[in-house]
Amino acid sequence: MCTVAHSDPSASSVVDGGLSDEFAVPSHVEDVKKLMVEFAERHGSAGRRVVLITSGGTKVPLESRTVRFLDNFSSGRRGASSAEYFLYSGYAVIFLHRHRSLYPYSRLYTGVNLLDSLRLETDKDNGQVLVDQKALPNIATVLKSYQAVKATGLLLPVEFNTLSEYLHLLKAAAQALSSIGSKAMFYLAAAVSDFYIPASEMPEHKIQSSNGPLQISMKMVPKMLNPLVKDWAPQAFVISFKLETDPSILLERARRALDIYNHQAVVANVLDTRRGYVVVVTKDTQHELVLTDEEVQNEVEIEERIVSNLTKAHSQFMSQV
Ligand code: PMT
Repeated sequence: MCTVAHSDPSASSVVDGGLSDEFAVPSHVEDVKKLMVEFAERHGSAGRRVVLITSGGTKVPLESRTVRFLDNFSSGRRGASSAEYFLYSGYAVIFLHRHRSLYPYSRLYTGVNLLDSLRLETDKDNGQVLVDQKALPNIATVLKSYQAVKATGLLLPVEFNTLSEYLHLLKAAAQALSSIGSKAMFYLAAAVSDFYIPASEMPEHKIQSSNGPLQISMKMVPKMLNPLVKDWAPQAFVISFKLETDPSILLERARRALDIYNHQAVVANVLDTRRGYVVVVTKDTQHELVLTDEEVQNEVEIEERIVSNLTKAHSQFMSQV
């Protein structure tokens, strides 16, 4: 049995926008921040918009020498495919993703065993290795897009492993993007854990099953949307996501998030139908985006619709500031 005790969210530290000492700053954050600052300035001064996409789930360890952890379902597909559509739309993209979650372009081949798609031209060990294009559909087109994006420096991938890394890198990204004002968009598609065990309360060694049933008490993770909208990037266009399993509470939860954080839009989705149906909710509007069965068969992706809706809303937002 596992019992999770809920504690008062306001009890979590609000020092430094909610990032307390519990989330020590990872050593590489300053270096990554410099890269993001340079990226934002380069693209901003070229007149380009920049989107920061968060993608994937988070792992929360139960022991400091971690054997077990709490995880969630997120594959990172929403974030990875959206990155491609933003790139097609002319945005530069900072892709803040969980290590080993889906990645733009290569995501299309995750189900393929690479070795099954290759063959040797001759028996010699140093001979050419050839690709079976039937095993990797559209590989030439996809490879061209990927290489073009790399050559033009339009994609800056940034990885996180731990919750702490995610929180600090998001803050660093927000500060880096503040220099381009309303040209920055935040597209927060990551499924971030709401609960964690503080390092000071975590057992060092593997929890022993011989001690009987496990009871876990977890603290609330500070919501980053609050300082992001208010302090770190107040001029940016900010989109959060809301996932529910009960469709009847989805829109109310999305509207509540808009009221609390005062940002521009929430993309609301339900776990089982998230690949074919979302609602983009703003203070005054509500747009349902739906894929028909035929579109699903033709491999149309809902992210294309989401990105198209949001890039138009971003243009409108920029023209009003
Ligand atoms: O990755 P896939 O398998 O393709 O699935 C995509 C998705 C379902 C994960 C995605 O579409 C989605 O809905 N992501 C948000 C999940 C969610 O409901 O998050 P939340 O309610 O915990 O957080 C709400 C928003 O605040 C999110 O935008 C989140 O990124 C952000 N957040 C959350 C926690 C935190 N500490 N700080 C945050 O900023």
